Amino acid sequence: MTATAVRTSRQWRGVIREYADRLDVSDATPVVTLGEGGTPLIEAPALSARTGARVFVKFEGMNPTGSFKDRGMTMAISKAVEHGAKAVICASTGNTSASAAAYATHAGITAAVLVPEGKIALGKLSQAIAHDAQLLQVQGNFDDCLELARGLAEQYPVHLVNSVNNDRIEGQKTAAFEVVEVLEDAPDFHFIPVGNAGNYTAYHRGYREELDRGATTRLPRMFGFQAAGSAPIVVGHVVRDPETLASAIRIGNPASWRLALEAHADSDGYFGAIDDAGILAAHRVLSAEVGIFVEPASAISVAGLLERADAGEIPAGSTCVLTVTGHGLKDPQWALKGPGGEEATPTSVPVDPAAVAETLGLTTT
Ligand code: F0G
Repeated sequence: MTATAVRTSRQWRGVIREYADRLDVSDATPVVTLGEGGTPLIEAPALSARTGARVFVKFEGMNPTGSFKDRGMTMAISKAVEHGAKAVICASTGNTSASAAAYATHAGITAAVLVPEGKIALGKLSQAIAHDAQLLQVQGNFDDCLELARGLAEQYPVHLVNSVNNDRIEGQKTAAFEVVEVLEDAPDFHFIPVGNAGNYTAYHRGYREELDRGATTRLPRMFGFQAAGSAPIVVGHVVRDPETLASAIRIGNPASWRLALEAHADSDGYFGAIDDAGILAAHRVLSAEVGIFVEPASAISVAGLLERADAGEIPAGSTCVLTVTGHGLKDPQWALKGPGGEEATPTSVPVDPAAVAETLGLTTT
């Protein structure tokens, strides 16, 4: 007789219900969830072979709206509704607006989103519109949008759901809990993209809480990466006209700058900058060697790991976790560019087996 597989799985309930004991929620909190969190931590032998470390990728593109923002948004919208909010507002480079729009609509409230005109990826713009947000394109950059959103939230009855709202950081810290559950300890290093530095702050907070309650033996060194053309934390001053093809992290004045410096100090961390060519090269490695498709900003975690390993800064055998923050389908155009920037054009073939076989290099046996 063959053994019967025992199915113990159940549906993941979203980060608030899964981690209710570790978040500021009560029975009075209406849980607004789309089932976010519970994302896969994927071992990446191709990256381990390149670096000598043991590398895992936390694939946050698997969240309901395709980015890590959903972890924070379930908290921010739930708490906003708990406090009676009828409308929320945010500034965004795209992913926050997609997430705010989806969670607000699910809760039956209004989302107003401010995005830099012409500067967000088409997939993200489509999401905000599809989820019926009041989307405004601002004639300025992300930093201008955030200043506007903050000012409006102070003067009008709209609830700010950018990561300056602590509920966002609280929700996002749950990703660190998930990593610890899988690895049964914290990793040695955690690599992460940095824009507003909210997620860098959130992972550190999650790992810090795990250490303090005795669930882990170490605090990972938090290694954060900004795009070279918009690297205010690395250069140590506000960047007025940030530029990079990684539009999600085109930010010159990070909202969580101070908190990130504290996390950096506590974790013996590191901030580095990667140029756009390095980001695209890492994007290719991740999609063509590991099988994970991300948006450009997310690939900077991989670029950061490769750069630090080349510099001899990652001891052999170290456990490294890389957060890749957003799905590749949000901003797919970069996959179609070759290393020299040339467009990849798929080969066209007739409906003819012999011709297809020849083009594929197949020979009969
Ligand atoms: N990766 C992606 C895909 C993002 O969308 C963002 C931020 C980051 C990384 C950086 O995270 O800001 O916490 O340091 N996107 C924000 C937005 C700014 O509006 O969607 P951070």
